[in-house]
Amino acid sequence: MCLWGGGPPSDPAEQSLLNKLIRRSLVRNRNQVEVLQRDPSSPLFSVKTFEELRLKPELLRGVYCLGFNRPSRIQENALPMMLAQPPQNLIAQSQSGTGKTAAFSLAMLSHVKPENHWTQCLCIAPTYELALQIGQVMEQMGKFCPEVTLTYAVRGNRMERGVRLQQHVVIGTPGTLLDWCSKYRIIDPKLISMFVLDEADVMIATQGHRDQSIRIHRLLPKECQMLLFSATFEDSVWGFAEKVVPDPNIIRLRREEETLDTIKQFYILCSEEEEKFSALCDLYGGLTVAQAMIFCRTRKTASWLAGRLTEEGHQVALLSGELTVEQRADVIQRFRTGKEKVLVTTNVCSRGIDVEQVTLVVNFDLPVDMEGNADNETYLHRIGRTGRFGRRGFAVNMVDSDRSMELIRQIERHFNRSISRLDPGSLQEMERLIS
Ligand SMILES: Nc1ncnc2c1ncn2[C@@H]1O[C@H](COP(=O)(O)OP(=O)(O)O)[C@@H](O)[C@H]1O
Ligand SMILES: [Mg+2]
Repeated sequence: MCLWGGGPPSDPAEQSLLNKLIRRSLVRNRNQVEVLQRDPSSPLFSVKTFEELRLKPELLRGVYCLGFNRPSRIQENALPMMLAQPPQNLIAQSQSGTGKTAAFSLAMLSHVKPENHWTQCLCIAPTYELALQIGQVMEQMGKFCPEVTLTYAVRGNRMERGVRLQQHVVIGTPGTLLDWCSKYRIIDPKLISMFVLDEADVMIATQGHRDQSIRIHRLLPKECQMLLFSATFEDSVWGFAEKVVPDPNIIRLRREEETLDTIKQFYILCSEEEEKFSALCDLYGGLTVAQAMIFCRTRKTASWLAGRLTEEGHQVALLSGELTVEQRADVIQRFRTGKEKVLVTTNVCSRGIDVEQVTLVVNFDLPVDMEGNADNETYLHRIGRTGRFGRRGFAVNMVDSDRSMELIRQIERHFNRSISRLDPGSLQEMERLIS
């Protein structure tokens, strides 16, 4: 059901998991954190080191063992708020990879009183896989605190009715967690003192999850600490957040926008698909490019192109919608480590790939929206850089009709940057700039 033919519309939960599987390090962000305090007169604490949080030594050891030297941007403010006494509620929003999950994992580990053998923290995640990811972080971080225990409330994890759980932390999906709290009565919701909702934006994209979360929330005591995290903040997320997190502190870290400042943009005029292919070969063959990413409109074109390039002797990876999340993560990982030099892909799969290392991006097909106009946002995501490294890059657009030339003009106007026609001279110039 995809009008623009890019493959299936990407599932937010899958996309989020994919991000986790490929990203092994923190996304740095130079923007200022915006903090809105519930009580503006109370002092605002932020920490530059983990020591300042006065964690249990075993927990601090776990944090350092993960290779975290100091708190991330969002953690600097979020951690003191989450650990404060009396407890404070928090809504935090920042893009994926900025350290939200690590932050509340630390808060839950620190919050638990191990001598009380009942469930004290509930954490809701949108899917089984995302719940497991959180649990893995907690296991690693808490590895010197074996007295703190956790379990997963996910479909298939069968429990005996009425026998109370002893695990301090339960991470799960909304439906199963609700069952465990109400139908099976293996968790006493009245004893929960910390409630975490992770990936709220992904959560409410799934039918039913929103209402189940609200029903769990209703079972909790009023003084329970509520924490909600999201990568985006549309009105729908906001409405949900306000429902489940009363009197919140709010922390936002806006994403660093990509710019086209360090990118040189070209187009190549071709008459049809086959000519686009030979132009691409000339281009790639004429450059000693480190790595290139090539975007096609449909899966069919992508796999055709990958096949042709392979025949020509290039090492090509193909990223497309029919692969499982794990397979996609694997393809991206191989490309990142340089096992393949060229990545051919459609749009849906490419979000979240870090393009900083890629010097050449080719739009084999230009990105268009549903109305057939230039999709400027996608164009920017494909070729833009955050400017952090200021590294140079090149974008080459294949033009095969008057219509696609018109798209080029639209993009030029939108970004107020010129896109020049590629000629042999520009190839030399590119080569000079690359090496
Ligand atoms: N303070 C830190 N220092 C270094 N790496 C960190 C820190 N906090 C988190 N990370 C790492 O950054 C990545 C993203 O963190 P995560 O908590 O999953 O972010 P988010 O939940 O915002 O997507 C993970 O690989 C995590 O191990
Ligand atoms: Mg997270």
